[in-house]
Amino acid sequence: MTTILKVDGLKKRFGGNEAVSNVSFDVNEGECVVLAGDNGAGKSTVIKMISGVYQPTAGQVHFNDTVLTGKSPEAVRSLGIETIYQDLALADNLDPGLNLYLGREKTRRILGISFLDRKEMQRNAVEVMKSLGIVVPDPSAPVREMSGGQRQAIAIARAIHWQAKLVIMDEPTAALGVPEQREVMALIERLKKKGVGIILISHNLPDIFAAADRIIVLARGVVAGERKPSETNDEEIVRMMMGATL
Ligand SMILES: Nc1ncnc2c1ncn2[C@@H]1O[C@H](COP(=O)(O)OP(=O)(O)OP(=O)(O)O)[C@@H](O)[C@H]1O
Ligand SMILES: [Mg+2]
Repeated sequence: MTTILKVDGLKKRFGGNEAVSNVSFDVNEGECVVLAGDNGAGKSTVIKMISGVYQPTAGQVHFNDTVLTGKSPEAVRSLGIETIYQDLALADNLDPGLNLYLGREKTRRILGISFLDRKEMQRNAVEVMKSLGIVVPDPSAPVREMSGGQRQAIAIARAIHWQAKLVIMDEPTAALGVPEQREVMALIERLKKKGVGIILISHNLPDIFAAADRIIVLARGVVAGERKPSETNDEEIVRMMMGATL
C-alpha cells in the first residue's frame, strides 16, 4: 500500500481559539478516509490546511515527496489534489464545460487573438460526464439551473478529468436528495477503483460506513480515535464524536 498523503501535527489557531490541535493521519492510494465529527470539530479547517486555503499555525502536510505547506490552492490543485468544498466551488453562471476548465480554460487563436474554445470544452465535459454515467439535460445551460446532485457530479467530473490523485470532499451529499446521494457514493467507489485517494467529510453514519476504509473521528480539534468500519459501530463512532474519553 502506497501512502500518498501525510498529515503531520496540524494545528490552526483563529485568534484565541484553537480550532485544530495536533491532527495527524495518512491517506493511501485507492483508500477512502472519512473525517467524522460534530459541528465545529475542525474538519473543514483540516482540509483547508491540506488544500492551501489556510496555512497551519503548526505542522506539515506531505503529498508524495512534496511539502504542501506554504503552497497556494492553485499550486496544490496542480499537483493533483482536487477539493470539493462544503460550499461547492462551482461558478453558477457558467456551463459545465467552463466549470470543468475553470482556471485552466482552453483557448484557440484566430488571427493571433486568443478566444475561449467553449465548444471544445463543452464537448469534453459531456464526454467525461458520460464516462461516469452522468447525464446533464442541457450541457450549454449554466450550472445554476442544475440540481444539487448534478452540480456535485460536475465537481467530481472535474476531479476525474484532471486525473486527481487525491480528491477531498466536504459533505458532498448533505444537500442532496436520496438518488443523488447514491450517485455520489457510487462515484466515490469508482474513484477508489482508479487508485484515487479520497478524504470524505460526512455526518451521515450510513455513508461513513459504506464508503470508509478508515474512519478518523475529530472532536474539538483533536483526533478522538481511528477505526476500520469492520472494527466499530455507529454507537462507538457517535461516542467518539461527542468527545468521550476512550
Ligand atoms: N475563518 C475562521 N475564523 C475564525 N474561526 C473559525 C474560522 N473557520 C472555522 N473557525 C472555527 O473553528 C472551529 C472549527 O470549524 P470547522 O469549520 O473546521 O468545523 P467543521 O468540523 O467543519 O464543522 P461543520 O461540521 O459544522 O462543517 C469552529 O469553532 C469554528 O467556529
Ligand atoms: Mg465543515
